[in-house]
Amino acid sequence: MKPTDFNQIVNRHNTGSVKWDFIDRYLQLDETDLLPMWVSDFDFQCPEEVRQALHQRVDHGIFGYSERDDSYYQAVIEWFSSRHNLPLQREWFTSIEGVVPGLALLIQLLSQPGDPVVIQGPYYGSFAKIITMNGREVLENPLKESPQGYQFDFEHLEACFEQRKPPLLLLCNPHNPTGRCWSHSELTQLMVLCSRHDVTVISDEIWADLTLPGETFTSVLHLDEAWHDHLISATSASKSFGLSSLRISNFLIPNVRTRNAFIERLNAHGLDVFNALSMTAATAAYQQGEAWLDDLQGYLADNRRWFEQALAYAAPWCKITRAEGTYLAWLDCRALGLDDNALQQALIHQSRIAASMGISFGEQGKGFIRINLGCPRQYLEQAIAGLARLKP
Ligand SMILES: Cc1ncc(COP(=O)(O)O)c(C=O)c1O
Repeated sequence: MKPTDFNQIVNRHNTGSVKWDFIDRYLQLDETDLLPMWVSDFDFQCPEEVRQALHQRVDHGIFGYSERDDSYYQAVIEWFSSRHNLPLQREWFTSIEGVVPGLALLIQLLSQPGDPVVIQGPYYGSFAKIITMNGREVLENPLKESPQGYQFDFEHLEACFEQRKPPLLLLCNPHNPTGRCWSHSELTQLMVLCSRHDVTVISDEIWADLTLPGETFTSVLHLDEAWHDHLISATSASKSFGLSSLRISNFLIPNVRTRNAFIERLNAHGLDVFNALSMTAATAAYQQGEAWLDDLQGYLADNRRWFEQALAYAAPWCKITRAEGTYLAWLDCRALGLDDNALQQALIHQSRIAASMGISFGEQGKGFIRINLGCPRQYLEQAIAGLARLKP
């Protein structure tokens, strides 16, 4: 296979792409002719090996009911073992078509209506959405901004646990939007508190593969087995390989009672059927996509370096948060002195950029925007030119 040219522009218009074709509807904007730097969805074709596997499966032509086969499990297990030094046990696996629907079902299963569920702001917006839309309450444990990057506020967390007795904490690791990869010691400290207060941690690890050079991803499943009863990890090949619309994810649940209860909920909703094309794609990605992912990570790291330097020169008022993973840039625009509405209007009318507004990540996101660096360099050049038009 020849190496992928990540600089290549692939036209995504008229493919039903949320990022490119539905900017106006999703962001409630009148404008559509904007550079889409918002949703976490990159603009690269998935690996050639995955496309070939999909072609073969499509050519077979029969798409009756399908089930995850041995090669699927084996591919995921070997990937996590070799890529992350993480031994997974096959019996821990449960699958559902996406991480967000799995999180929503687990919220229904592991908490009662009205219960508080802890998340760390700035938080991925869908966390707050599924908590509130399932009749639970968002209990925020805001991250602390520091020169070393965002940190957990353990004191505040313990106070939340003591006062509100939440049954659940949703963790995002690597963290969307800040790009933090929580360390072994931070995760251990978190688990000490959670197990002391009988709080189950659901760790959304969808970004696990997209670490930056020199950084490592630590799963909650890397922690001492003593914590296993209190934790669940959610993974997917979707972010790593650009397969989000194919819909497949794994929830790894070591606790047998929780796992069986989750499987029962899946059955109760008729969610025990698997999409043949998703499984083909995920299996091929994990079995044959490693070299492609290495190249992608290199390209994303170069993109980030280039963007940081260009930003410092062209828009020095804008401060980029130091990240350890993801292809997201969390940009502090507070020096512009605009409220969030005015900031959005400036981005649309002056910069011609559709960004994710920080305020959609909760109060901690006020004055910030999130930009997606998972795109050919040419789009980053356009984004920099747009940001350079804004002045404090
Ligand atoms: C932290 C996180 N979890 C989940 C998702 C979406 O997962 P899915 O499409 O599998 O529901 C995203 C997408 O951006 C995300 O950033």
